[in-house]
Amino acid sequence: MRTRPLKVALLGCGVVGSEVARIMTTHADDLAARIGAPVELAGVAVRRPSRVREGIPAELVTTDATALVKRGDIDVVVEVIGGIEPARSLITAAFEHGASVVSANKALLAQDGAALHAAAEENNKDLYYEAAVAGAIPLIRPLRESLAGDKVNRVLGIVNGTTNFILDKMDSTGAGYQEALDEATALGYAEADPTADVEGFDAAAKAAILAGIAFHTRVRLDDVYREGMTEVTAADFRSAKEMGCTIKLLAICERSKDGASVTARVHPAMIPLTHPLASVRGAYNAVFVESDAAGQLMFYGPGAGGSPTASAVLGDLVAVCRNRLNGATGPGESAYAALPVSPMGEVVTRYHISLDVADKPGVLAQVATVFAEHGVSIDTVRQQGKDGEASLVVVTHRASDASLTGTVEALRKLDTVRGVASIMRVEGE
Ligand SMILES: NC(=O)c1ccc[n+]([C@@H]2O[C@H](COP(=O)([O-])OP(=O)(O)OC[C@H]3O[C@@H](n4cnc5c(N)ncnc54)[C@H](OP(=O)(O)O)[C@@H]3O)[C@@H](O)[C@H]2O)c1
Repeated sequence: MRTRPLKVALLGCGVVGSEVARIMTTHADDLAARIGAPVELAGVAVRRPSRVREGIPAELVTTDATALVKRGDIDVVVEVIGGIEPARSLITAAFEHGASVVSANKALLAQDGAALHAAAEENNKDLYYEAAVAGAIPLIRPLRESLAGDKVNRVLGIVNGTTNFILDKMDSTGAGYQEALDEATALGYAEADPTADVEGFDAAAKAAILAGIAFHTRVRLDDVYREGMTEVTAADFRSAKEMGCTIKLLAICERSKDGASVTARVHPAMIPLTHPLASVRGAYNAVFVESDAAGQLMFYGPGAGGSPTASAVLGDLVAVCRNRLNGATGPGESAYAALPVSPMGEVVTRYHISLDVADKPGVLAQVATVFAEHGVSIDTVRQQGKDGEASLVVVTHRASDASLTGTVEALRKLDTVRGVASIMRVEGE
């Protein structure tokens, strides 16, 4: 074993960074044995240097992250600051000054992954980011390496623990959205400002990263269709139950049937209770992958939290250090397929539509005609009437999102349709 240590610069020492530092220290001997050389924490960049940081020698702490990455003797920079800047400039500077990079930064990778990969390649360095997609759950490496000989057609995932906790609460207790969110906040599962989670921004960043790796193409954050879950109601859950379904916020990345394009989207959807993703409870994450040869695979585990996320960071650190000792780099960006990302209108799926209608003869026929005129075939219709008003629940066969949007616009114009109470996509069948 080499005795000269590999030097690691840690950028950020918060929820994730402090756990990375702890595991590096407590598992030092095992890490050295697995890598073939000891790893040494050479510096820790933070914003507030006076904060007490257990187990971190004070002399390693600095507020000058730029000077740390430019030192020239750093082998690996671990970026766990988050956000776009200064993380982007620091990673780029790290490559230029001889270091490889491990990051957990989904926002940055979803936005600028291509440029960062190019910078890594130009400088013959590694860029690893297993922790950016689903915390501890191995996904990037299985997609990049284990499934590199297969053809992935679909990735369907619960990639945000906060929203899964809220939806699971609504499902199991009959609570409304606000009540479930309040409980998630009180228990520390939701942040004071939950927008990034409940509006699907966090899941959309992860969908962009997953789609790019799964389909060997570039998918940017802007390419991902996004709908949050704040409009999901207790009534939606009751409807879902009647259909033998539950509701999850899903990230869905698909290759088109002809293989010529891909789509990536995040939105709440009904899935059958028999689907493996339906049993993912609480704040857990899971990703379901469908490929030509392997068939169906599911990856499950804690998608966030300091220690689970640090586990993924450490796995990357070991891989990058091994590459470094071998004078090699691991797999870089694979975007050779260069597939276009189709707009949401071209996505084909099933829909559950709940309408408030007048309870009089002929309404059902009128509604059915609108669906037929837009080429959307109806699978089932359920009607409940009371005091001259009725609700009509229509479940469709597979149709394009554009056809469904046209149908709903036309339905809203009917005098007998008082309102469209909810539209929910049905997935996983
Ligand atoms: N938390 C999770 O469960 C989780 C899961 C998966 C991925 N991630 C990703 O991991 C990354 C870190 O998340 P986190 O939860 O650990 O964040 P965090 O607790 O807010 O920690 C951020 C750290 O970065 C430091 N920092 C902020 N601005 C800095 C600057 N300009 N220069 C140097 N240091 C700076 C902070 O310093 P101070 O300590 O002085 O404030 C803090 O130590 C993010 O990209 C996040 O998306 C997190």
